[in-house]
Amino acid sequence: MSDLIGPDLARIEGPAKLTGNARYAAEIPIKGLAYAALVQSTIAAGRIRSVDARQALAAAGVIAVMTHENAPRLDRTAESPQITMFPLLQDDRVLFNGQHVALVIAESFEQATHAATLLAIDYERQPAIAVMPDRPDAASQETPKDFRNGERPPDSDRGDAPAALGTAAVTVDAVYTTPVEHHNPMEPHATIAAWDGDALILYNATQAVSSNQQALAKMFGLPPAKVRVISSYVGGGFGCKGATWPHIPLAAMAARMVGRPVKLVLTRRNMFTSNGYRPRTVQRVALGAAQDGKLQAILHEGVTQNSAYGEFAEPVGLASEMLYSCPNVHVTHRLTKVNAGLPTYMRAPGEASGVYALECAMDELAYALQMDPVALRLANHADRDEHQDLPWSSKSLRQCYEQGAAAFGWDKRSPKPGLQRDGALLIGMGMATATYPTNRSKAGALARLLANGQVVVQCGSQEIGGGTYTIMAQTAADTLGLPIARVRAELGDSTMPPAPVSGGSQTTASIQPAVQAACRALLAKAIDLAAQDPASPLAGAAPDSVTAGDGRLFLRSDPGRGVSFQDLLRRAGRSTLDARADSDPGDIKKRYSMHAFGAQFAEVAVDPDLGEIRLRRYTGVFAAGRILNAKTARSQMIGGIVYGMGMALLEHSEVDPRTGRITNASLADYLVPVHADVPPIDIHFVPEQDDIVNPLGAKGIGELPMVGVAAAIANAVYHATGKRIRDLPLTVDKLLA
Ligand code: MOS
Repeated sequence: MSDLIGPDLARIEGPAKLTGNARYAAEIPIKGLAYAALVQSTIAAGRIRSVDARQALAAAGVIAVMTHENAPRLDRTAESPQITMFPLLQDDRVLFNGQHVALVIAESFEQATHAATLLAIDYERQPAIAVMPDRPDAASQETPKDFRNGERPPDSDRGDAPAALGTAAVTVDAVYTTPVEHHNPMEPHATIAAWDGDALILYNATQAVSSNQQALAKMFGLPPAKVRVISSYVGGGFGCKGATWPHIPLAAMAARMVGRPVKLVLTRRNMFTSNGYRPRTVQRVALGAAQDGKLQAILHEGVTQNSAYGEFAEPVGLASEMLYSCPNVHVTHRLTKVNAGLPTYMRAPGEASGVYALECAMDELAYALQMDPVALRLANHADRDEHQDLPWSSKSLRQCYEQGAAAFGWDKRSPKPGLQRDGALLIGMGMATATYPTNRSKAGALARLLANGQVVVQCGSQEIGGGTYTIMAQTAADTLGLPIARVRAELGDSTMPPAPVSGGSQTTASIQPAVQAACRALLAKAIDLAAQDPASPLAGAAPDSVTAGDGRLFLRSDPGRGVSFQDLLRRAGRSTLDARADSDPGDIKKRYSMHAFGAQFAEVAVDPDLGEIRLRRYTGVFAAGRILNAKTARSQMIGGIVYGMGMALLEHSEVDPRTGRITNASLADYLVPVHADVPPIDIHFVPEQDDIVNPLGAKGIGELPMVGVAAAIANAVYHATGKRIRDLPLTVDKLLA
């Protein structure tokens, strides 16, 4: 491939975003728009006895109040659990504090927001469990019924881990807990719904136009072609824009009810109750090793928070099955029901929480063995996936450890904790492993040559901020031999060839092969057209003898003989030439285990008097297949590490146990790292070309960089202080306790 793949290339939609020309869902100008505001339950469980809407309806500008008594009925028989489980104003039940119980529709956002405060709702309260217990007892634990969409059981055993733990020379056995966290993308959820007869159009901030379309079509009993979902730009999702959350159908229901387009933009407070969260986890990790550090047993028992209605099982134990070589591994996943909304995928779901626990336990084991933490991991390197009994498609984890240790200066770390100081501050160094599965799904793409010689590539995927427009244009330009300025990439419209949810770090690995295939098909069609034109300089040329470069087709043996794309279409009397292609991973996952890997190194300074923890510097080294754009990739790695930093030190959603109300539902109270918190972050990629994962050789990188960060920081805090805190985030109160 040419030099268009790989280098630092700034994102192509950057200028549009900077100048405000990129329109996000809430910014689409629509005539006759009405505005909706949510009304949310103030109790954790019970039912609605009555709603008195008289005052709200009398308020200025109010058009309608939609409650369970008058809301359009939806088809709830549809198979998709996404549709049947969410409360959608279909009955009087209240299952959690913050559940949507009414929508007020008015002429302006302010009028709707005001009138929403005037609704008088009489509730019948029922007993509720608003907070997941610190140590859920066996009676409160349930086995997931539909773990990983039924693709595998929730538990796994290799060998006999409990027995091996009992006889191991050195063991650690501890419980780690992680809190509820919320995604908090900068752009809140926003939906504009407009009906044209029985056709519905939605401008929607989403990571999944295709599944939104399917879900809405089922709910409203429409053929999918009658529902169009558009999402040209997304201001961050991190998993919370993956599902078809209630505000999307609610906006469509409201628009149907008032006969006008309706806009529903969630407030920051709404964002804490309306679109999932990372569930609280309580994880027991027990490790047994021989004196030389070789693992004999891994036990990982995870209990995670679930809602009182649907099922979401955070897969915390999956990395423990495959990350290290170990003959005896026991993993379980259990759920505890809480009167809270449904949890969902959030920034490296499963691995972020699970690898935190595993990699802290590995650190504890290293101290118990008096062994260097990097050496312990190298001693237990898995040369194949022992859980699936499959070879890796590629793996460069050893290089990640080695390059990371060298770049970070790991050799300067004292083996014992509490010994390194900088003035009055305690200094600590910690490390952890990163791993994330390489996912790939079926995807389609369209390539269209225009009369002016430009090419448009389309894919029903979406740009959630990672650089998908840019990588798509690079792939197309590279395949077609065009300057990148002559390619226009289009995304985020359900009328385009379908693509998967932009989640699970799968977008690049899934859609770029489709874009490449569509462009190759377009090239073949163009060559064919030229060869069949008797007057063309390429008349009769064999397909293999022709190639493309600089916007023209020419003979490999005689580059002077050729035709420009513009001339090609003009001669053929055509205004466009289209090609569509689909890409399918087939059964590749049955034959190879596909993962990206990395090594995380953190240095912290801890004030021993105040308990303040500051991250001082950070090194992350990653092996994730071929890096298609070094600049956007590096940005993603930095972003992921900053998420991990938030998880380690700041982020947690607090719930009032009496009412189930989230008490810190604002960005003033729910803390995330800001620029002043973030130290220099040193990113390296280990060159890796993986021809098994897909034709481009690229693994996913979106979630990998956040995995292991919280452990690396927690391990550094232990190294600084000698104090092991097993509950995230690592806040002052816990350090001083
Ligand atoms: Mo990601 S949490 O799979 O959108």
